[in-house]
Amino acid sequence: MADTVLITGASQGIGKATTLLFARQGYDIILAARQIDRLEAVASEVRSLGREAIAISTDVRYPEQVNNLVEKAIAHFGHIDVLINNAGIFTLGPVEEFLLSDWQQVIDQYGSVSDE
Ligand SMILES: NC(=O)c1ccc[n+]([C@@H]2O[C@H](COP(=O)([O-])OP(=O)(O)OC[C@H]3O[C@@H](n4cnc5c(N)ncnc54)[C@H](OP(=O)(O)O)[C@@H]3O)[C@@H](O)[C@H]2O)c1
Repeated sequence: MADTVLITGASQGIGKATTLLFARQGYDIILAARQIDRLEAVASEVRSLGREAIAISTDVRYPEQVNNLVEKAIAHFGHIDVLINNAGIFTLGPVEEFLLSDWQQVIDQYGSVSDE
């Protein structure tokens, strides 16, 4: 039985690169991000490398969606050996120009708040 890795933000960027690296190293992959079409495209790339992959649409800001992700991963593979907690966003620009809502989007579980 192959080891598994659960990677959030697996549909592009660092998460996609990490996904393909683990697949080449012989891991089966649980891929998570919000946009399922892009996630499925990466899952197909994993399968073309000879590894098993499942793509699960998940918004990590919502605990119930994260619980669903873990439950589906365990139901499919029986175990999660590695977690890459990569999903996230960051804000670019002069820090003094950031709004409170910019910070909240980066760090808060439930998205933005009012700037008032
Ligand atoms: N690249 C850099 O220079 C840099 C620098 C510092 C820190 N980081 C951090 O490193 C991580 C990856 O960076 P990156 O440049 O590869 O990012 P990226 O290209 O913007 O990709 C972000 C990934 O996270 C997913 N994602 C975003 N919000 C999500 C949410 N709420 N729930 C689930 N998935 C979510 C996106 O897919 P969906 O939109 O479909 O959900 C996408 O797969 C991020 O956490 C970023 O903040 C990156």
